[in-house]
Parts: sequence; C-alpha cells; structure tokens
Amino acid sequence: MQALGIIGGSGLTRLQALTVERHEVISTPYGEPSAPLTFGRFDGTRVVFLPRHGSTHSIPPHRVNYRANLWAMREVGIERVIGMAAVGGITPPMAPGVLAVPDQVIDYTWGRDHTLFDADLDSVTHIDFTDPYCEDLRAQILAAARGVDIAVHDGGTYGATQGPRLESRAEIARMERDGCDVVGMTGMPEAALARELGICYACLALSVNWAAGKSDGPITMGEIDRHLDQGMGRARTVLAAVAGA
Ligand code: HPA
Repeated sequence: MQALGIIGGSGLTRLQALTVERHEVISTPYGEPSAPLTFGRFDGTRVVFLPRHGSTHSIPPHRVNYRANLWAMREVGIERVIGMAAVGGITPPMAPGVLAVPDQVIDYTWGRDHTLFDADLDSVTHIDFTDPYCEDLRAQILAAARGVDIAVHDGGTYGATQGPRLESRAEIARMERDGCDVVGMTGMPEAALARELGICYACLALSVNWAAGKSDGPITMGEIDRHLDQGMGRARTVLAAVAGA
C-alpha cells in the first residue's frame, strides 16, 4: 500500500498511535517545512506525518509555509495527503463535534505564497480546480469511516479565511450567502498547491465551534479545545482506517 501523507492541524501535532521510525528534515526550494517529516507506521501501514503549525503548535495559519510542506511530501514520494483541519460550523449539519469531508472550497485568504507556478516558467500554467479535492481520497475516507462506524458528513464547502483572528458576524453571514458550510484558516492554499504538485489531496474537517454569530455569546478557546479533545480521537481512528485500507 502506497504511504499516506497526513498534515495535522490544531489538536493534531502528534499521531499517538503512530509507531515512529524516523524523522527527516527536508529542505525545499521554498524554505523549511513546518517541521521535520515523521515517518512511521499506523497498524503496519506506512504514514508520513507533518504538523502544519510546527511541532509545538507555534506557526499561525498565515505564516505556514504551505509550499514547502506540500513540496516536502512530494519530494519523499507521497501521492495521497489528508489535511486535517479544525473548523467553525456555519450551516446546521456542521455542529461542533461533527467530522466532515468537504467537496468544495472558497478562498478568502490573501498575501500567502499560494502557487508553485510563480516565476521562471516555461509557460503559464493554470491547474483545473473545478473539484478542488481528490474524489478518490474523499471516497476512501468516507468508506474507511463507515468501516469503523464513525459518522462523517459527506461534502460541504470550506471557506478559507486569513486569520489568525476569528471572523465577524457579518463576515460569516456573507460566507453563508456565498455557500460556505464551514470556516477554517488553513484549507488554502494547501489544496491548490497539492493539485499543482499532482498530489491527491482531501480534507478531514472537525467542527470545533459554531462560527461567529451562529451561537449566543463569543467563541472561546475553552470551547474550541473541548471539542478538539473530544473529536480528535475519532479523527485519528478514521485516519488509521484510511491508512490501513
Ligand atoms: N473560524 C476560522 N477558523 C476556525 C474556526 C472559526 O470559527 N474554528 C476553528 N478554526
């Protein structure tokens, strides 16, 4: 079985069940990835893990070197990557605690190094991004989740915001009118860079709060941490099931 790449987000800086074999520092033309790559096995299946926000969760979403992270994965031969993401829920099915595999993206980020096709090109290149996530990998995640009896919502539009602040009530209302179901800060340019590199990429999103204005009162880190703690175990089980499938 081809090794699975996993990019961990908030609440997933380590994969507890991973038997670690080695760490490798990869240098890329775009600088350093967020951390050394961790090579290991999940129930015997090879996995390469990279914590998006660094090993100590110190890199904020707008400072992540997305280009180096995806390049490093490709450099070590990874062809399938699951990006784990904590998100805020906008529409009713995306209540805190829900796991989802989005099928669309709207990019509201700005000023990030968002492409590998930037300079020194033989010719201008435009990737197809009609369906931004790899349908094969989305299907593998959903099937693996069914196999371990964990509920995972199929589909939804991920709205990627710049952060690190959370959104205003009006911003979330606009995103809902735009068709977004969840909001997160790291989904782009990660998905687009994966496509540029020919990596089959999908997102496993865990809703950890209602987005701004969707519940009474402010969003607290306590609420987010509680849902991260409660949900990451299920997410890890799904990831292990995908790796082992
Ligand atoms: N907004 C943006 N990103 C997030 C949120 C949110 O409400 N929750 C978790 N990541």
